[in-house]
Amino acid sequence: MNRWLAFWTWLGICGAWAQVVPLPSEERALEGVLELRPGSFAAVPVDGGPFFLETLNRAGAGVKMAPADAGAVIQFLSLDSLPPGHAVPGEGGYVLRITPEVANVHAATPEGRVHGLMTLVQLIEAAPKTDGGPLKIACREIVDTPRFGWRGFMLDESRHFTGVDGVKRLIDAMARYKLNRLHWHLTDSAGWRIEILKYPKLAKVGGRGTETDRRAEAPAAYYTQKQIREIVAYAKERAVVVVPEIDMPGHADAAVAAYPEHDGGGYEQKGDPRKWPRFTFNPAREETLKFLDDILAEVADLFPEAGVIHFGGDEVHFGWKKWPQLPEVKALMEREKLKDLAGVEAWFNRRMAGTIDRLGFKTGGWDEIAARGLATDKTLIWWWHHDKPQVLKEALAAGYPVILTPRRPCYFDFLQDPGHKVGRVWGGINPLADVYQFPASLGLTAEQEKGVLGLQACLWTETTVTQARRDFMTWPRLVALAEAAWTPAARKDFADFEQRLRPQIAWLKQRGIASWDPFEKTLEVTDAGAAPEYPDLPE
Ligand code: ACM
Repeated sequence: MNRWLAFWTWLGICGAWAQVVPLPSEERALEGVLELRPGSFAAVPVDGGPFFLETLNRAGAGVKMAPADAGAVIQFLSLDSLPPGHAVPGEGGYVLRITPEVANVHAATPEGRVHGLMTLVQLIEAAPKTDGGPLKIACREIVDTPRFGWRGFMLDESRHFTGVDGVKRLIDAMARYKLNRLHWHLTDSAGWRIEILKYPKLAKVGGRGTETDRRAEAPAAYYTQKQIREIVAYAKERAVVVVPEIDMPGHADAAVAAYPEHDGGGYEQKGDPRKWPRFTFNPAREETLKFLDDILAEVADLFPEAGVIHFGGDEVHFGWKKWPQLPEVKALMEREKLKDLAGVEAWFNRRMAGTIDRLGFKTGGWDEIAARGLATDKTLIWWWHHDKPQVLKEALAAGYPVILTPRRPCYFDFLQDPGHKVGRVWGGINPLADVYQFPASLGLTAEQEKGVLGLQACLWTETTVTQARRDFMTWPRLVALAEAAWTPAARKDFADFEQRLRPQIAWLKQRGIASWDPFEKTLEVTDAGAAPEYPDLPE
């Protein structure tokens, strides 16, 4: 090879060095280069299904499933097969050793194996391509452990509906960036999106329309139980746990539209009498509590490995004005000696948390529930009030595990660029850099951080009528959140991240995800005049 060609090839191979997102927690160079030839064998996990092979080959590995007795150039192994005394990763982590002979992923769990796969895949993609020749990957060793165990994204399905294909595409991209929790906000005032067999009108009536399509003849958009099981299994294969949210006692309009006997009253949103007069469930009516118990039982059955059922619990006070007039609430207050409506809310929370506990799950809720006296060892708190840092501090001090998802910078319905027009602004916006730097801005002590389960971004979909706009608002900010949640604080560097982000934007686009491109400053997707979208509706 002539000297210049050799130099450029070497640069290309080393260039691939710095391509992994999220940046691994520890890596070091080893001598040499692995040559991955088309048609080589890979020994993929037997319980990984075709997913491992497909993922490698979509990246350009060109590998075949290794017969039992054949040597393989890519192998997935346990931690036991590491050399004695070798460093091991923490929970959810993996070791990737690339030598001139083989690329070995070592992990203790299926989740760790998927994470190792995703790192290897990004290195394969970044390897310089030669016509029909081998892919060359610089040798290295990565011992990688996530900073936080919970690396999440919340998708609001109620305001606008995504559909099966869109959710699977989202899960694919989450898995690539080692995000491991899809918080699925399935119910809210604008629409009920989960089929409940015992109460079919929830989906068929409560699922009609969207936030911006209130026509009486709008179709019902929801996930059937079959589709939900399919999505949960699809996510599991990719090391993503789907956590369902069934919001109560507020954000209940869609459910109450289907079953008005459970109405607990609401409020009028300024300028729009349709929003939201039936905002709450009746918190004290025996039949309503039984109705919610039945719903939660079906939810538990659909998400057996979620670990936690999120029951909302947010913004109840907006809609509790009518509660003092409800005979069941009056009787409850008298019987239980509750002195105010906050007491009624706390009683309701305890009642429903009891159901969730008996179903074998922890109870999750928005940070309002932290002040309502639920058991700290059975409850997870999602802190979202960025303007109330004391709520976070008190929840941590009380001993609740907390997921950090403050509106700033974690709500992706906020603008991401000062040049954009459509989206929320609240004393500022949520640019990529702020998402990336999070949670340093909170100044948590090491002791406080021990109580933090992890980070989560939330996409509220009031202003996203189309999938194109949901993608535009989500990406690339979710890549930044993924690195913030995975990579140790001391290794984070925004300028370096931006360089590694460039090829990720191309990957997202190639996978049909309409990410905003902050480098090219692509046009804002505003959804002005967009027609309603109802993808993948059940027959
Ligand atoms: C919320 O934003 N209401 C959790």
